Amino acid sequence: MTQDELKTLVGQAALHYVPDGEIVGVGTGSTVNKFIEALATIKHRVKATVSSSVASTERLKALGFTVLDCNEVGELAVYIDGADEIDDHGYMVKGGGAALTREKIVAAQSRRFICIADESKLVSALGAFALPVEVIPMASRRIARQFAAMGGKATLRLDRLGKPLVTDNDQHILDVTGLRLTDPLAFETQVNQWPGVVTVGVFAQQKAQVCLLATAQGVKTLSFE
Ligand code: 5RP
Repeated sequence: MTQDELKTLVGQAALHYVPDGEIVGVGTGSTVNKFIEALATIKHRVKATVSSSVASTERLKALGFTVLDCNEVGELAVYIDGADEIDDHGYMVKGGGAALTREKIVAAQSRRFICIADESKLVSALGAFALPVEVIPMASRRIARQFAAMGGKATLRLDRLGKPLVTDNDQHILDVTGLRLTDPLAFETQVNQWPGVVTVGVFAQQKAQVCLLATAQGVKTLSFE
């Protein structure tokens, strides 16, 4: 099975977690795009959506979904999103698509995070994927030095034109390699406190409760509740 087919499979499997008549939190990325396609087949059962990026909002609206702002809704029953890495506690690295801040906000507002991923994303320890960190531009060099002091190497993410990539929140992204994420909860708490850090791409406080993992043998369900 190709990676695209695995993503389609897991996107469809996530429909099982969509409660009837509720507002659904929707993440960002190529796996979520498959989920959005699948969600369109049960649109009549979805009251509305809350989206974690401009890209997903546009996709949802094009399919006729109502997209609400976080401030217009209370707690969501479910948030469905992908990950760049997920470990066997449900801790994740996210932000490969630069949407980590809004993803963390919608995840924090949801009772359950259902992670959808293909099996290449399951790791025994987080850290091989360069860690995305959204930062206020004026602080990026200093934050890069703080990561260097921890043994990491931070690189400013560039767009297709070679300019610093600007997020949906008008901020920049550092991608950090060489870190040891042995204690994701402690690491997330520490980096969150640095001035100028908007969001660190470790999702430990907002970990997944369930991971639907697409494998060649079918979709496996990993529970972290
Ligand atoms: C976007 C994300 C995505 O969930 C993550 O990058 C996985 O994306 P994909 O499903 O395309 O592999 O965190 O910011």
